[in-house]
Amino acid sequence: MGQFVVRGGRRLEGTLRVKGAKNAALPIMAAAIMANDIVVLNEVPRLRDIDVMIQVLQALGAKVWWESAQLMIDPTSIDQYVVPAELMQQMRASLFVSGPLLARLGQAMVFQPGGCNIGDRPIDLHVDGLTKLGASSCTQQGQLILQANGLTGTDVHLSYPSVGATENIMMAAALANGETRIRNAAMEPEIVDLAQFLEMMGATIRGAGTSEVRIYGQPRLSGTEYTIIPDRIEAGSFALAVAAASGHLRIENCLVDHLPGLWGRLREVGVKVHEVDAETIEIIAPEQYRRMSVSLNTNPYPGFATDLQPQFMAFLLKVPGVHLISERVFENRLGHARELRRMGAQIAADQRVALIYGGHSLYGAKVSAMDLRAGAGLLIAGLQANDQTVIEGREIIERGYENFAGRLSAIGADVTLA
Ligand code: UD1
Repeated sequence: MGQFVVRGGRRLEGTLRVKGAKNAALPIMAAAIMANDIVVLNEVPRLRDIDVMIQVLQALGAKVWWESAQLMIDPTSIDQYVVPAELMQQMRASLFVSGPLLARLGQAMVFQPGGCNIGDRPIDLHVDGLTKLGASSCTQQGQLILQANGLTGTDVHLSYPSVGATENIMMAAALANGETRIRNAAMEPEIVDLAQFLEMMGATIRGAGTSEVRIYGQPRLSGTEYTIIPDRIEAGSFALAVAAASGHLRIENCLVDHLPGLWGRLREVGVKVHEVDAETIEIIAPEQYRRMSVSLNTNPYPGFATDLQPQFMAFLLKVPGVHLISERVFENRLGHARELRRMGAQIAADQRVALIYGGHSLYGAKVSAMDLRAGAGLLIAGLQANDQTVIEGREIIERGYENFAGRLSAIGADVTLA
């Protein structure tokens, strides 16, 4: 595994453009399976997870290639329904292809997915939803086998607003016969993006972005061209990097409304957040913060994004006072607290709640990225540490951030690859 080497203490200054959203691109690439012609995608980020999804689509028989900045997917030759185990193990989002495969070929075989190590991540809501649409399911040697002789619209009530399950069910329902209603659906902007893409393919979808989504399926879906939304988690990570390191950053191609919890939090603490327009934000962060206590809960959208929790924790280490973070989406997503302690951070944490004693200086150490966002948090801690921090697991962080070191260096950080 490679490393990021960070020398802290540099002020950040400049302009950054946010890339397309990984978590919007992945389900949209999976939905392309259902098209009867070529799909052209703009603003797909060049990331390891995207490469894995390209390999998944190719393993199923699709032709996928880049034409300069555009990702081209020709799904017409898809004739395989088994997702290879080694690809499933690399990325949980491979599970997204199960709904579209079932809708298109009448069967899908996927292994228990891998991905980030953030607790037990069951797939029961995906399976229950697809079963309600008419699929039969069974598990054989760790392999989930789904089969259907046509899908029929239905009512699905999710016991939890799972992002992935909402997306998987929406996709399968787009080729189902009749209307499907998903209640307690996830409301994330990535759901709205997927809905808009499915509409461009010919489906009719109402209510995406609310807790009740209605999908009116079509007998066939066409190819289309679509532009992926900007990555709100990337935008938030850069904002928190400058808040932790101090400086002045202009973030472009950032849909300001997609981070409802973050800007208010930063302002409360004393960061100046200036909304230049709907797609540009400026962050001006001081050298030091006044003493205060910050309390943060992560929650499904529009709550504070769990994917920004580790980065926010790293930032809070700069703010004098006792802070509380409660992780409410995943049951085991505070493992980065242990790594941050190696850098001198004073944090007490169990699986769900962390108490952070901010305002103490950090020192460089050798730490490990446990998952993608935890790794970004360690990098943000490294930006404020006194000397050199070495972060193991560069590839894990690169699953979600394109050219992270290069782009941070361009705004004044001292980050190199090893
Ligand atoms: C997506 C994002 C991930 C983000 C997460 C929550 C992608 C590719 N990934 O992941 O970055 O952290 O949303 O915003 O978009 N659950 C079940 N049963 C299921 C599915 C989920 O119990 O069948 C539980 C999970 O264990 C977890 C919670 O629901 O505790 C949230 O998971 P979910 O919203 O499904 O996240 P993902 O779609 O996996």
